[in-house]
Amino acid sequence: MKFLFINGVNLNMTGRRERGVYGTRTLDEINSSIAGHLHGDECVFYQSNIEGELCSRIHAAADEKFDGIILNAGAFTHYSYAIRDAIASVDIPVVEVHMSNVHAREPFRRTSVLSEVCRGVIAGFGAAGYILAAQSFKL
Ligand code: DQA
Repeated sequence: MKFLFINGVNLNMTGRRERGVYGTRTLDEINSSIAGHLHGDECVFYQSNIEGELCSRIHAAADEKFDGIILNAGAFTHYSYAIRDAIASVDIPVVEVHMSNVHAREPFRRTSVLSEVCRGVIAGFGAAGYILAAQSFKL
């Protein structure tokens, strides 16, 4: 299968920011581990801190025959109607991922404006959440 892993704002700082919450591995290390676990699949990785770039990457994915998009939009999750509309504008199923358990943290993290247009949500399993999200397409 062919998967697009999109990480949004501040996820490039993974491994350096709030290590007690997001762990000590960098995003590159996490992405290598994902690719290793999904060795039979084609995995494409993208990260941006810019909301419009994330929307454009989702739009472009529509012409690239992805089976699924695994999206951790970071804090954009909680308020980006633009990313929500970008997801709704393509036919590719999207799984929303959060490394931390957003429901066990600050109240603002309990709101996602993306979940309504996503196939499902995985939160609280650290970087394993990205792999679980991809595996959900195979069940
Ligand atoms: C996050 C949770 C968000 O609330 C936060 O803003 C992030 C990361 C997670 O992976 O747990 O940047 O999406």
